[in-house]
Amino acid sequence: ARALKLAPSLLAADFARLGDELRAAEAGGADLIHVDVMDGHFVPNLSLGPLIVEACRRVTSLPLDVHLMISSPERYIGAFAEAGADIITVHAEATPHLHRALGLIRECGVQAGVALNPATPLTVLNEVLALVDLVLVMSVNPGFGGQTFIEGSLRRLRAARAIIDAQRPGCLLEVDGGINHETAPRAYHAGADVLVAGSAVFGGEGGVAHNLTALREAVQ
Ligand code: DX5
Ligand code: ZN
Repeated sequence: ARALKLAPSLLAADFARLGDELRAAEAGGADLIHVDVMDGHFVPNLSLGPLIVEACRRVTSLPLDVHLMISSPERYIGAFAEAGADIITVHAEATPHLHRALGLIRECGVQAGVALNPATPLTVLNEVLALVDLVLVMSVNPGFGGQTFIEGSLRRLRAARAIIDAQRPGCLLEVDGGINHETAPRAYHAGADVLVAGSAVFGGEGGVAHNLTALREAVQ
């Protein structure tokens, strides 16, 4: 069986207690910390920048998985690399220079990811797969936490899994949006290695460690 990685999304955390939330995620068995960066242009919401990534870097030793939902991400790749990102993911739709942006991430010594919105054909992967360590299939339209998983994402995950297995084994397949105890097992069995979850980890009453265990048990 493929190793399952859980990546709590900070977007759903309490930003007034960010250090505690990060420590709880790490103690609870998170594999990565997913950090959502939004610019109010590529997506209709604003979130955080390199300053917060650098603050997270000081609190956790988990890999920081930085998801850039920003236009022309190549402008900020250096800043996020310096802030301590381990993986930087850019959207295929966010720049006419996707190939250059991915190369730039690698030049900064950081792992590179490419993200695809729900309506973006997977064929773009053929052109950039050699340049990436991670493929992110969005299972909601990016911009907000707490949205409903788009069912068609399962077919996209299966297709992306087949492309990765054939052309670039070892590349991680990540899914982001609407992951909970019900969708997590289906996304995993459709081929995802990394499950991003915001509200399912930081929301609810049970606590972060309990929520992570529940997600893991739902998949197994
Ligand atoms: C959406 C973000 C997600 C979001 C997921 O634009 O990229 O990472 O935080 O939140 P949930 O898990 O609540 O759908
Ligand atoms: Zn995200």
